[in-house]
Amino acid sequence: MGQQNSENGVSSSKTERSALTLRRPDDWHTHLRSGDMLKAVTPYTARQFARAIVMPNLVPPITTIAAAEEYRSKILAALPSDVDFTPLMTCYLADSIAAAEVEKGHQEGVFTAAKLYPANATTNSSHGVTDIRLIYPVLEAMQRAGMPLLVHGEVTDHEVDIFDREAVFIERVLSGLLKDFPELKLVFEHITTAEAAAFVAESGPNVAATITPHHLTFNRNAIFKGGIRPHLYCLPVAKREKHRLALRKAATSGSTKFFLGTDTAPHEARDKETACGCAGLFNAPYAMESYATVFEEEGALDQLEMFASVAGPTFYGLPLNEEQVTLEPIETKVPDYIDIPTGRLVPFHAGEKLKWRFKAGSGTY
Ligand code: DOR
Ligand code: ZN
Repeated sequence: MGQQNSENGVSSSKTERSALTLRRPDDWHTHLRSGDMLKAVTPYTARQFARAIVMPNLVPPITTIAAAEEYRSKILAALPSDVDFTPLMTCYLADSIAAAEVEKGHQEGVFTAAKLYPANATTNSSHGVTDIRLIYPVLEAMQRAGMPLLVHGEVTDHEVDIFDREAVFIERVLSGLLKDFPELKLVFEHITTAEAAAFVAESGPNVAATITPHHLTFNRNAIFKGGIRPHLYCLPVAKREKHRLALRKAATSGSTKFFLGTDTAPHEARDKETACGCAGLFNAPYAMESYATVFEEEGALDQLEMFASVAGPTFYGLPLNEEQVTLEPIETKVPDYIDIPTGRLVPFHAGEKLKWRFKAGSGTY
């Protein structure tokens, strides 16, 4: 589509891209880590997002109200004083966890949700749940309280091909779980397959999903392009192209069932560039630029606010953010790495140019 230049009457082939103003978004799936790493990475999340669901997979995991309160204080202490950011804490479900502690933590406003990691599914999940039936009393309490269960949806059976573990989880665990707890609020986290997107779309309004920028951006081929690319390795691992396309369709559909969850999961570069590298991408610094790129490519920028700022709080029953942010159509160069006191982090899109630039605080509603 040509644009007419009024001064010289020459038409240019470029379509004018305008700035996009939207409600400040939230991140419904974040790893903020602990210690020096927490101090280094938390400001990136707080710069773009008003609230974030903070994952509890620390060492040791966050399994008590006291531990979650202490962790929340440390997160707040890591923020610059002029930043407005609310960490929403989660409880790590272990086989032995007491339903009363989870329920009390929710009632007291400490635990926004609880996270189910099948034992050994991913980073620091060795204390996870070995058999879902062991936590049925907790799930009863959560269903009653309307407390969301956040699910890492992969079976851990090594006999199952790694690319099938999410789809098999739906068949073996999730379908039965929702039959037993039909009213349980459940978020299928970081979905990676067409099967997961369809399952969520076809389930009741109590079932939703988060989608990461990386699973919308590349497929499994990218991990092996010209050699092994450890910075693209995460869990669940990226799948075939048809799955990436299904995720893009779901994210941009305008449905309130699919919302933003970056799964930013920083590991130091040396822990990823090694013989047995850690899973996780550090995408917090340019998360909104990355999502905007996807939505623009899909011709769906008008749905970005629903995905990033409306669907999540609606599902969680929380108010929408009042502040506005802007995405400017300005090229942004992503650095090759970000130095932190203990080493360096390689951000998602390292070395690339993105077509958008995030700008905080342009007004309020
Ligand atoms: O890639 C991942 N990294 N997936 C997860 O589920 C956990 C995360 C982490 O904590 O590093
Ligand atoms: Zn995660």
